[in-house]
Amino acid sequence: MNNLTVVDNPLVKRDITVLRNKDTRPADFRAALGRISYSIAVEISKNFQLNEIEVVTPLETTIGYELQKQVVLVPVLRAGLSMVNSFLDMIPEAKVGHIGLQRNEKTLMPEDYYYKTPKDIGSSVTIVLDPMLATGGSAAAAFKYLKERGAGESYLACLIAAPEGVKKMYDEHPDIKIYTAALDRELNEVGYIVPGLGDAGDRTFGTF
Ligand code: PRP
Ligand code: URA
Repeated sequence: MNNLTVVDNPLVKRDITVLRNKDTRPADFRAALGRISYSIAVEISKNFQLNEIEVVTPLETTIGYELQKQVVLVPVLRAGLSMVNSFLDMIPEAKVGHIGLQRNEKTLMPEDYYYKTPKDIGSSVTIVLDPMLATGGSAAAAFKYLKERGAGESYLACLIAAPEGVKKMYDEHPDIKIYTAALDRELNEVGYIVPGLGDAGDRTFGTF
């Protein structure tokens, strides 16, 4: 499907292996997740438009660049929080909204508990951060909310995607480009991505 880019980079493949390993401890898990997030931020940023500006060096005036649009990062709580710092390191001028969604583990439907996004989201580039795209229910709900508030150019940054989630996003939000570090085989009978990495939130924050 043409809504998906799988970031192809040896360091990312090495770090995805760290994340998949069931023996990786939260501190190492967070570090690998942060490093992959840098690579995804760089890939997404290739879409950004620039304005030409003048910049005065110690020697002369020359051409420089600034981002044309404000960038708004929107981590999906909780696991998406682990991607924020890397994206902010790359895009320090970005604003940060938050969306709280918890997947009901019986129905697999997302249940929302928090929304806060900047008012100027309509003229901004919006990047939703969530390491796992499983059924796609959470991501689809996040973009429904953001579009209701006028979001325009938008991207989804994730680490591992399942084909089922990519398809749901394509069916419901074909305009959203998804960037992932890995596209896995399928969902299992309880909605986990396989081979996957388990529960991203629990492994990030040590809540197992
Ligand atoms: C995980 C993950 C996504 C969602 C993906 O969060 O971070 O938000 O599940 O599943 P889906 O594509 O089937 O909706 P979870 O609901 O477990 O919450 P958490 O981040 O608080 O652990
Ligand atoms: N959420 C996770 O954290 N992992 C999965 O495999 C699916 C949903």
